[in-house]
Amino acid sequence: MVKLTIDGRMVTVEHGTTILEAARQAGIDIPTLCYLKELNEVGACRVCVVEIEGQERLSAACATVCEEGMVVHTATPRVLDARRTNVQLILSQHNVSCTTCMRNGSCKLQKVALDLNLQEEPFEKKPFSSRWDRTFPLIRDGSRCIQCLRCVNVCEKVQSMGVWSLTGTGKHARVEVTGGKSIRDINCALCGQCITHCPVGALTARDDTQRVREAIADPDRIVVVQVAPAVRSAWGDAVGLAPEQATEKRMVAAIRSLGVDYVFDTDFSADLTIMEEGSELVERIKEGKKGPMFTSCCPGWVRFLKLEYPDMVASLSTAKSPQQMFGAVAKSYYAKLLGVDPEKIFCVSIMPCTAKKYECGVEAVNDAARRDVDVALTTRELGRLLRHVDVSALGEEEFDQPLGMATGAGVIFGATGGVMEAALRSAYYLVTGQNPEVEAFSEVRGLKGWKEAVFPIGDIKLRVAVVSGLGNARSLMEALAAGAVDYDFVEVMACPGGCAGGGGQPIREDQELAGERGERLYALDRSYKLRFSHENPAVLELYKSYLGAPLSHKAHELLHTDQGMWEL
Ligand code: SF4
Ligand code: SF4
Ligand code: SF4
Ligand code: FES
Repeated sequence: MVKLTIDGRMVTVEHGTTILEAARQAGIDIPTLCYLKELNEVGACRVCVVEIEGQERLSAACATVCEEGMVVHTATPRVLDARRTNVQLILSQHNVSCTTCMRNGSCKLQKVALDLNLQEEPFEKKPFSSRWDRTFPLIRDGSRCIQCLRCVNVCEKVQSMGVWSLTGTGKHARVEVTGGKSIRDINCALCGQCITHCPVGALTARDDTQRVREAIADPDRIVVVQVAPAVRSAWGDAVGLAPEQATEKRMVAAIRSLGVDYVFDTDFSADLTIMEEGSELVERIKEGKKGPMFTSCCPGWVRFLKLEYPDMVASLSTAKSPQQMFGAVAKSYYAKLLGVDPEKIFCVSIMPCTAKKYECGVEAVNDAARRDVDVALTTRELGRLLRHVDVSALGEEEFDQPLGMATGAGVIFGATGGVMEAALRSAYYLVTGQNPEVEAFSEVRGLKGWKEAVFPIGDIKLRVAVVSGLGNARSLMEALAAGAVDYDFVEVMACPGGCAGGGGQPIREDQELAGERGERLYALDRSYKLRFSHENPAVLELYKSYLGAPLSHKAHELLHTDQGMWEL
């Protein structure tokens, strides 16, 4: 252990602890901008400088390790002056345009400048200019980048993709797409993790809210909304509601208040996905097919696999994602129920994800209409649409039916391990004809990046793995290729913690919320009367009156895709 003094307080910390972490342990706040614990400890912004007695230069608290007997001061006039100057230098290269910036109100630079009471910008302004294809789902505004390197390290260390790099040095240092390429020419999975870890408005997802407003205003359109499982675990953060107020049913009321025609649940099509994917798995096992079957509901993962391991695409389940299945059902079966032309239906999905924006435009996953899903919004965009609504004054309302009917198995799709658990609950039924204990497969829950288990199902011993985060996905792919591991069924989610930690979720600065948000989904699962996808009455009715059976010709036509056929 190491003993030191911070602002007159004796602090004892473990060897290797930084001054920043020691101060935090002692309840002393030091502002930070570039720092991300264990991910980005590069000392780039120097907003966290402190004074150490006996040392002439100020030190970056986030990058300086505590030493025995150190005497540290975190808020002397000299320290505060230096912080102000450092932030003013950052602002001199920054396009300060808060009123038109998506991070206005959740921007770390804005907060740091306010906390330091900065009232002027004395240095000559020279923001970097940049060009970007603003039709791409991931948007970068170089003039707002503060070169903090968070995106570089998240993309490289967590997601193993290396899309961003630092070029140049000193005041010419800039972060850009590796190799000076265009974002379209580099392997970006569109997971959005760089967006949620950027402290400012330099990285954002394309905003599609205006298209939704226009559709709502168009009297010839029937606007049908689907809400993904993980959105309900986080939407409160996007509208400033506490978790106990931000219930699933108040979310339904809030979305309905926008003037849309129907509010449905992607959990319904998650149950449908389980019927198709679970049946596909059981069929594969019965046929004795070798190698694992990969889940296909995460478009970030599907993109990753197609870009990085194209030889393994045949192992993907042919089932479309719940988003696309919902769109296909809404524009076929539901259009028929309503007795309307499918082209009149405008299908909006609200997703915790940025890759869904790309997925809904892929031709091969649209079958019922030209576009089965017209627009995919993120949870953050839902928050933007609701800015003028006093959501706290709204009551609670139910989803519309029948596409709002869901089970607890559909809800847990939003957490890592949830698709696996939901699939196993139904695969067990399909193989044995009986329901398992509902919590029988809970071993696959939790935030560990790579989990594995073996479950007896009838005569089969099913070897499964659950992976979240693309760095973990890459390790798994390499291990599979080397023959070091072997599984029957593998769930992969591109974002650490699954969709609950998705790149489209509301950002709470410096906090990783996938665990907390995932827990809310498991609590919802426990509260649902039905917890097996194969017991969803609306899904059963859909099969009875329209699709026939899982994997039927019609189901294949609408709910599956030939993963090998289409390219990015
Ligand atoms: S990044 Fe922050 S400081 Fe810069 S324009 Fe956006 S809100 Fe304002
Ligand atoms: S979206 Fe994901 S893969 Fe693409 S640059 Fe960002 S972190 Fe990297
Ligand atoms: S884009 Fe954002 S995360 Fe990346 S270096 Fe710039 S400010 Fe930092
Ligand atoms: S937070 Fe310490 S240098 Fe940026």
